[in-house]
Amino acid sequence: MRSSPVLRLAPSILSADFARLGEEVRAIEAAGCDLVHFDVMDNHYVPNLTIGPLVCQAIRPHVSIPIDVHLMVEPVDSIIPLFAKAGASIITFHPEASKHVDRSLSLIRELGCKAGLVLNPASPLDWLDHVMDKLDMVLLMSVNPGFGGQQFIASTLPKLRLVRAKIDAHMAAGGQPIWLEVDGGVKTDNIREIVQAGADTCVAGSAVFGCKDADGGYKGVMQALRRAAHPA
Ligand code: DX5
Ligand code: ZN
Repeated sequence: MRSSPVLRLAPSILSADFARLGEEVRAIEAAGCDLVHFDVMDNHYVPNLTIGPLVCQAIRPHVSIPIDVHLMVEPVDSIIPLFAKAGASIITFHPEASKHVDRSLSLIRELGCKAGLVLNPASPLDWLDHVMDKLDMVLLMSVNPGFGGQQFIASTLPKLRLVRAKIDAHMAAGGQPIWLEVDGGVKTDNIREIVQAGADTCVAGSAVFGCKDADGGYKGVMQALRRAAHPA
């Protein structure tokens, strides 16, 4: 068991008020988050439809923190350049949605973005084995992709420990740093075990945007998540 001192919080704007998106992303940055998590769904790879490069471009001037684009689309290669141009900082995709995973990862990096693979709850870790040197991020889904507000799937915890060990071994052998992000059902009551299992970056959608009227607003939620992850 390992508790990383680093904790990046990435609110998913899937649960934000889309009618006031500029205001919402400015508010989460001011509240102390580290990344804007941007969920792209195509009603093909996942049974839901969300936002595309035009919306990424529209919010880019409103924040200075990185935009973490999570592609839940199939195929991926044609949309990657559009997001790079729209100001994405990190682009992750599901390996099942690309015919040539190595090529898609290289394409993201050639366009100046950080690249990552997203593994669904039932996806094997083997996807990582031959592309570790091309990854800046591994994103483990702790729900099945497509919707916010779902329940955290507990089998993500042992899977996280395995990925943490893989990344640590890779870095110990001289490899580049790789961020380990978790997405789905992250709340104050489970973030501690998620971080202890090895995550350094946590997506939180409903936990952040569902609490805007609570004491302290978004800042209060962000502080509560950090305190719960690393109690003094
Ligand atoms: C699900 C998305 C998640 C989701 C997280 O497909 O990738 O980013 O919005 O939302 P919560 O934190 O509410 O589970
Ligand atoms: Zn996501």
